[in-house]
Amino acid sequence: MNDALALPVGTTLDRFIMRKQEQFPYATGELSQLLRDLALAAKIVSREITRADQDTMGSNGEQNVQGEEQQKLDLIANIRFIRALRNGGEVCTIVSEEDEDIIHTGNQNAKYIVAMDPLDGSSNISVNIPIGTIFSIYRRISEVGQNGTLEDCLQKGTQQAAAGYILYGASTMLVYTTGHGVNGFTYEPSLGEFFLSHPDIKIPANGNQYSCNDANVSNFPLGIQNYLAFCREQKYSSRYIGSLVADFHRNLLKGGIYFYPASAKNKTGKLRLLYECNPLAFIAEQAGGQATDGIHRILDKVPTELHERCPLVIGSSEMIEKVKKYMTL
Ligand code: AHG
Ligand code: MN
Ligand code: MN
Ligand code: MN
Repeated sequence: MNDALALPVGTTLDRFIMRKQEQFPYATGELSQLLRDLALAAKIVSREITRADQDTMGSNGEQNVQGEEQQKLDLIANIRFIRALRNGGEVCTIVSEEDEDIIHTGNQNAKYIVAMDPLDGSSNISVNIPIGTIFSIYRRISEVGQNGTLEDCLQKGTQQAAAGYILYGASTMLVYTTGHGVNGFTYEPSLGEFFLSHPDIKIPANGNQYSCNDANVSNFPLGIQNYLAFCREQKYSSRYIGSLVADFHRNLLKGGIYFYPASAKNKTGKLRLLYECNPLAFIAEQAGGQATDGIHRILDKVPTELHERCPLVIGSSEMIEKVKKYMTL
């Protein structure tokens, strides 16, 4: 059953979530509430990003667990999402890019786990280029009545109950899936509402755009280098924003492929499996695309660490098929 059934463009996100819940007679409404909590945090972060205020601009002066320079907005977004999830009551445990350990919300009876990249593309904040938030939602496997466990957080991507991203671009958009197609909503700040603008998104099977950090190409696996040579021969357009959410979103709507493979500098790639690769892989597949580490399907990978990195090749299905062939030559 598709999420967008009978719901016209312009439907509010709240109504969309409610109608979808009605299509599942045994749904308890907890996942619906969780999605609304995320949307609330997205509105707050969208507002924080547009403020001309020294409290929200520039570096925080510290590094996160992965050795990256944290921006003030990385932390603000982290706090806002954690607070919304804690207050919403549906999440017991959170994994965040900005926190080394898992975060317990105190909601021990809650059924859900969230893994998130509170602000993606943070090196683009200071130059007014689109940034995003990525989230992945799992049902806990441990018993309720206690904190979530590491095992709850290290489930395979195939176990995701929902996943999505928020793109803070020329407009703010929320795109998500619960495993029944992908739908996109555009935020109207004057009304404080997200409206359905992109029902039942399908990624074109083929595309003519490719996205990667060109400076790393000589260190990419040979199969990927050869595929990139093919893209250039075909005169495909090179498009790389350097914000994964924005690069992925463009390719999702127009058709294309995004790479962040392993390289000499980043031996297991750069992107994080739990809160970057898995959620976008779920969306890509639900939209008819694919996501692979070059050899294995991303969603089948068994995570062993919270901040584990993973090579990522994601986008239009026929383009990924070709990459996989180049990888075996
Ligand atoms: P984050 O800002 O959440 O740490 O993510 C950064 C990621 C991703 O957004 C982007 O696609 C990639 O880093 C860019 O890396 P390079 O600068 O190495 O190309
Ligand atoms: Mn970061
Ligand atoms: Mn990121
Ligand atoms: Mn981030």
